[in-house]
Amino acid sequence: MPDNATTSGPIELRGISKHYGIGKDQQVPAADDVSFTIAPGGLVALTGASGSGKSTLLHLIGAIERPDSGTIVSSGAEVTALRGAALAAYRRTVGFVFQRYNLLPALTALDNVIAPLLPYRTSFSKRDRGRELLAAVGLAGREQSLPSRMSGGEQQRVAIARALINTPSLLLADEPTGNLDSQNAGEILELLARFREQSQMTTIVATHDPQIAARCDRLIRLRDGAVTDDIDLADGYPVDETIRRVGQLG
Ligand SMILES: Nc1ncnc2c1ncn2[C@@H]1O[C@H](COP(=O)(O)OP(=O)(O)O)[C@@H](O)[C@H]1O
Ligand SMILES: [Mg+2]
Repeated sequence: MPDNATTSGPIELRGISKHYGIGKDQQVPAADDVSFTIAPGGLVALTGASGSGKSTLLHLIGAIERPDSGTIVSSGAEVTALRGAALAAYRRTVGFVFQRYNLLPALTALDNVIAPLLPYRTSFSKRDRGRELLAAVGLAGREQSLPSRMSGGEQQRVAIARALINTPSLLLADEPTGNLDSQNAGEILELLARFREQSQMTTIVATHDPQIAARCDRLIRLRDGAVTDDIDLADGYPVDETIRRVGQLG
């Protein structure tokens, strides 16, 4: 521990459903019979209006929550059947990035980045690895800064470095640019795309932003927990057309 990454295979969702109770006898479908397969190394945009089920799907894929029915298979292993130590081991192969960064305010940038490693013995220096990652996200020299002294874009870079500290094979980003202006948003997506390129880490980005979605290679849109569109944005698919379509898709 922790040296994951290498065995990354496809992620398959098969008939995934999840309902939440809202008051007596009332159930809202947060995921409604969702099935799709994401190829290893894919960069996928998950779009849809607020409440359409993006966060729920990321939590299910990251095994933070369990579906009511259906199975999720990652690299051949049935995630939805994992328990105990095997479940914890799977979760360590997944990096999470959130809209609100979720940094610990009392810790420096470097300490935030290495925090996930603290319970573990590593064969390498945690601080060296943390410094390398901060440099890789463009924050060399900012190791000792507190989050309150950093801009939103800088805090999100710290959060990305933290998400990468376990060398995840899967990165789940939940509206990572939702609090950023378009320049910073573009830079954050650029970073995610670059790390995906270098490590072949599968990356799923929940986003409202057509400009962000257009830089991914596949777009999955949800409505009321169900997939309504699944568009291949492979090489050559015109960016303007993507932005127009995502704009329409909302
Ligand atoms: N913990 C929860 N308890 C009750 N309802 C929830 C919970 N989490 C999500 N929901 C509901 O599930 C639906 C999907 O929510 P969510 O996955 O957060 O959508 P999105 O991320 O696209 O905004 C919404 O109707 C939301 O209100
Ligand atoms: Mg959400």
